[in-house]
Amino acid sequence: MYIFRLNLKRISVWILIMCQMFLILIYFYAQLRPNKRTPQYGIKFLKSEDDFGDLQTTYHTLKSNIILKTVSTRQSYIDFNSSLCFKNGTDLASMKINQGINWKCNCLPGWHGNDCGLPEVLWRAVLANKKPIKIKGPRTFERRVIYLFKVDKFSEYLADIRINDLGTVVDLFILYEDDTTDYLQGKLDANFCKEYQHKILYVKNDGVNLWKKIKQYLKNLRNDDIILSSETNELPNRDALIFLKFYDHWPQPIKFRYRWSVFGFFWMHPGRTITGGGACTVSFLKESFSNNITLLTDNKTLSSPVYKGLTLGDLNHYGGWYCDYCNDPANIVEFLASKPTNVINWDKIEHQKIDNSYIEDLIENGVYIDGKTELKKAHKYQDTYFAPKFVMEHDWKYDFLLINFYSKADYYDI
Ligand SMILES: *[C@@H]1O[C@H](CO)[C@@H](O)[C@H](O)[C@H]1NC(C)=O
Ligand SMILES: *[C@@H]1O[C@H](CO)[C@@H](O)[C@H](O)[C@H]1NC(C)=O
Ligand SMILES: *[C@@H]1O[C@H](CO)[C@@H](O)[C@H](O)[C@H]1NC(C)=O
Ligand SMILES: *[C@@H]1O[C@H](CO)[C@@H](O)[C@H](O)[C@H]1NC(C)=O
Repeated sequence: MYIFRLNLKRISVWILIMCQMFLILIYFYAQLRPNKRTPQYGIKFLKSEDDFGDLQTTYHTLKSNIILKTVSTRQSYIDFNSSLCFKNGTDLASMKINQGINWKCNCLPGWHGNDCGLPEVLWRAVLANKKPIKIKGPRTFERRVIYLFKVDKFSEYLADIRINDLGTVVDLFILYEDDTTDYLQGKLDANFCKEYQHKILYVKNDGVNLWKKIKQYLKNLRNDDIILSSETNELPNRDALIFLKFYDHWPQPIKFRYRWSVFGFFWMHPGRTITGGGACTVSFLKESFSNNITLLTDNKTLSSPVYKGLTLGDLNHYGGWYCDYCNDPANIVEFLASKPTNVINWDKIEHQKIDNSYIEDLIENGVYIDGKTELKKAHKYQDTYFAPKFVMEHDWKYDFLLINFYSKADYYDI
């Protein structure tokens, strides 16, 4: 009897110990299991479900740990004895043939300067400037380019073109949308611009100073890094941006004189160009604009004599493309309904209602959205500045911006 009771005591102690062990085990098991929802090291990772074990990076949010890379400019230049030549602007083949005779950099068409690092638009802007400009460079390290712009459902195509066309030049894309929508977030979750998502920072614009808010999260931002911002339909010239990364002493802010395309790259507005913003350094933005990034694209700044800066592009060599109403007709109709504009001459429109067939007529006949301005035809093969490179190289994806499908003449012309 005594022994049994002792055993009972012992057994209950054992049971208690077992229970504790069991609880401890469960605790550790729960800790060790990878938790898919918690961000690790502040960066949002998506664990792939397959067995390959590769981590797939997604776009960043403000919770991410964003590091801007430091890149030496050395790799973009080639040293021919005493002349340093910009690789992508130099006719390397001809220089190798002339080896030992001529050590001057031999520039490719469209490139200028001693080291062939000045693209055409910049070369012309420098020549046209009243005050002489002494550009210096190349720098030891590239400036980083941070490109901030808004994306909504009306500007999705142009955002896609921008990111893909400038993806190797831009170091960080900051894409934002109003905090009342999550259209862009949905797109990013569905792999929008997947190839460059590691360079995309997604933020919601809650109305407070957007750049001031984001700036404190960019831990290794430098005063001479470049901030670029544009309106939703602007596509800045890629070569001009590359130049800004490598050289010093250019006047600020940088403005762009865009080629004014309408409905696609096949129509041009008779005004031909339109000036838009804007790029400057981090320190210029702080000192001259009090970190208010909207001033970079504001019409008041662009036309102000105080901020002369430098305008890239002229009537023959454009600083990029302004693609006005570059969308499908249904999307244009929706856009016009959402944003009443005074450009449209409503008296000319039956029942005061714009519909798909009205827009299709305009596209077919080359008439601007105001219903009266006649557009000029652009020619794909005769024109070096017809469309951005990425669009030309992906004509299957952006055929509707390259070919006027509503005009039978144009359609059979290709
Ligand atoms: C570099 O150029 C100098 C003259 O400018 C010449 O004497 C020298 O041989 C060249 N060096 C090489 C490695 O070709
Ligand atoms: C030079 O051209 C190559 C090939 O087109 C491209 O991958 C690279 O990014 C360019 N480099 C610069 C600095 O633009
Ligand atoms: C920034 O500038 C814009 C345009 O001038 C102005 O409307 C806005 O109030 C400014 N924002 C801040 C935070 O100062
Ligand atoms: C911008 O300002 C210029 C000069 O003040 C004016 O001609 C132009 O129409 C304005 N553009 C827009 C889009 O408001």
